[in-house]
Amino acid sequence: MGDEFQTTKDTQTGKKKKLYIESYGCQMNFSDSEIVASVMQNGGYDTTSNPEEADVIFLNTCAIRDNAEQKVRNRLQHLNHLKKKNTDLTIGVLGCMAERLKTKLFEEEKMVDIVAGPDTYRTLPALLTEVEDGRKAVNVFLSREETYENITPVRLNSNGVSAFISISRGCDNMCTFCVVPFTRGRERSRSPYSIVDEAQDLFQKGYREVTLLGQNVDSYLWSENPEVISLLGEKKAIKQGADISKVEIVNFAQLLERVAQVSPLLRVRFSTSHPKDMTDEVLQVMKKYDNICKYIHLPVQSGSTRILEMMNRGYTQEWYEQRIAAIRNILGDTCGISTDIITGFCSETEEDHQATLNLMRKTAYDFAYMFYYSERPNTPAAKKYADDIDLETKKRRLQEVIDLQNELSLKRNQLDVGKTFEVLVEGFSKRSEDFLMGRNSANKVVIFPKKQFKKGDYVSVKIHDCSAATLFGETF
Ligand code: SAH
Ligand code: SF4
Ligand code: F3S
Repeated sequence: MGDEFQTTKDTQTGKKKKLYIESYGCQMNFSDSEIVASVMQNGGYDTTSNPEEADVIFLNTCAIRDNAEQKVRNRLQHLNHLKKKNTDLTIGVLGCMAERLKTKLFEEEKMVDIVAGPDTYRTLPALLTEVEDGRKAVNVFLSREETYENITPVRLNSNGVSAFISISRGCDNMCTFCVVPFTRGRERSRSPYSIVDEAQDLFQKGYREVTLLGQNVDSYLWSENPEVISLLGEKKAIKQGADISKVEIVNFAQLLERVAQVSPLLRVRFSTSHPKDMTDEVLQVMKKYDNICKYIHLPVQSGSTRILEMMNRGYTQEWYEQRIAAIRNILGDTCGISTDIITGFCSETEEDHQATLNLMRKTAYDFAYMFYYSERPNTPAAKKYADDIDLETKKRRLQEVIDLQNELSLKRNQLDVGKTFEVLVEGFSKRSEDFLMGRNSANKVVIFPKKQFKKGDYVSVKIHDCSAATLFGETF
């Protein structure tokens, strides 16, 4: 996660002006672009997939690693050509890079007219009016409440089968390497009622899968009385003897159960789980409902307890392994498990690196997102530790991690050959329209002959072959 890229598709509701959006980074950003499209539709804009015909271009940006920001800067240079052709074109930078750099972006990238942080999208029409009046416009306010819960997203990223639902925003964890707490602000949870409404609405429109999104879904905690949450967060509620027995409080396991109850035909996924907060209660709810997919993205970052401590991840190697054991005990061996790994964090030794490789072998991940450490300005790690592993070593360790993961992915997939899975069809396979592509519960991509099946169908597929990335099967 974090290095993906998406452009808009066309929406035509008869609006006069056209908006083109490109989204970078994680699923949260892709989901936010759908909120932006909705706000802009009310402000008189349809979306277009062609930047050449746009009145407004937004880049919804990511700041997680330096190369994510470089990509956006290159893209801005390119878009500057369009601006020279069309002097009325407005260019806005949204998202995490906007929040990180604020008005510095105007100085560094002259073609930018609007800088808008992740909590300010309701104000985009007002910011555009400022630009029409001849000013540059900025809003980087971070909110403690905004969850955009009453805004119905315009589904831009969807195949009509699966959709994202944002359940919380921000992050309170302060992993030392990470910019997210600075770019997305404090964690806040969205009302379970509006989440369930959105899931019901999607199901009625024909969607068959929702993915609940948050930086740390396990710390989801909602109450009708937000004060209770802040007391609980600061662990004061108990000390103060506050009577919380009559207040409705919903945690992630309870939310998951409510969404699973929308329909047995609606698959439920979620991301991202945090090893320090993932409870057995969540695993039990997953076990209880067939339509909750048996797949967990549980980023470990490093297999060395010393490095994990420096990262402020809040768990040790042993704790992490015990969480993996809980997944295997409660959900069995076929549950898909994926992770994120960073190589070459400050002071990482060959021994620490070997600990990561060992943990990967022990866990036998199905899939991993792997990165080398990129120091981010003003993060706790940048302030406290020297970025002292040279680039060559960072990259060599990353390559070792990638090579090992390829082996592990292939081995895990080989275990699936001969088994039969229920697959939800998402569309055609990339290579041929004679084949369909879908996923099984464990999030593995499955390719099989089209026959009479179509998008949105649940199909029983027997696997006869695999690569490290894909399962190939046959229907009956
Ligand atoms: N909330 C999620 C991750 C969000 S960022 C979690 O806690 O796991 C996605 C991934 O980017 C992280 O898991 C981490 O592996 C990677 N990442 C974050 N900051 C990074 C940095 N400074 N350098 C390299 N990778 C980084
Ligand atoms: Fe970043 Fe850590 Fe929060 Fe994930 S949990 S977003 S890595 S601070
Ligand atoms: Fe990037 Fe922001 Fe997501 S920094 S990974 S877009 S939360």
